[in-house]
Amino acid sequence: MSQRAIGIFDSGVGGLTVYKEIVRLPGEELIYLGDTARVPYGNKGADTVVRYALEAANFLLSKQVKLLVVACNTASAVALPFLEERFRVPVIGVIEPGARKAASVTRNGRVGVIGTAATIGSGAYTRAIRACRSDIEIFTQPCPLFVPLVEEGWADHPVARLVAEEYLRPLTERGIDTLVLGCTHYPMLKKVLREVLGEGVQLVDSGAETALTVTTILRQMGLFHLSPPGPPRFFVTDSPVQFERVGGAFLGDRLTNVQRVELGMLGPAGERFEEGENK
Ligand code: DGL
Repeated sequence: MSQRAIGIFDSGVGGLTVYKEIVRLPGEELIYLGDTARVPYGNKGADTVVRYALEAANFLLSKQVKLLVVACNTASAVALPFLEERFRVPVIGVIEPGARKAASVTRNGRVGVIGTAATIGSGAYTRAIRACRSDIEIFTQPCPLFVPLVEEGWADHPVARLVAEEYLRPLTERGIDTLVLGCTHYPMLKKVLREVLGEGVQLVDSGAETALTVTTILRQMGLFHLSPPGPPRFFVTDSPVQFERVGGAFLGDRLTNVQRVELGMLGPAGERFEEGENK
């Protein structure tokens, strides 16, 4: 079992910010799936995102992964319980690790959370932070324009700075000292966010915290990979060309080994997955 790969999925290219953290783990083989034909998830309804997430997870489990990382904040926010219920491999989302970190680093107990409309609307970060510390005041803000800005390559552009000022004003007015970056794309905006927020606000990168959780789970379950891993494999549901281009900018490196796949569809109720195939 330990020799198997870690499966990572996201709605598209953004999950590469989480991949980038996990790939640092020595010796682990990674399989990444970006559902690029159906991105964005962040403005879709919860039932649609749950169905997409189940289909993506089915695909990765057909590759015999030992652990599933839901890199997409939107999918983690709305689909995690469904994935945990359905699959027997450990399923790790990005919400809880980010929430735990925020609860532990805030000094004044005032935490901001930014994410897609679906993530913020789900209330998942608010619940997860409160579960760690009930006295924390949480202020949330959907930032739908950040994803296209980053994908356009404008993460460090005056337009991004202007948009960030607008989105973050209500949070800075509330005196937050910690901001959770609750979307895969937002770590790419760290420079601009720091400039807008100033040094007094700590940025919590949910993806980086998730990589630490992956290490903990692998250790607890005795699942560390023991021999040199194969190269990472990338799967996308739309043409690889755009993924390679934007993903290369995310990773600061050339992306190779990207294949297009069709995901098996599930009915609205979700047909039962045959787990025996993946044990
Ligand atoms: N990956 C998504 C997230 O972290 C952002 C892109 C999308 O809306 O699908 O929420």
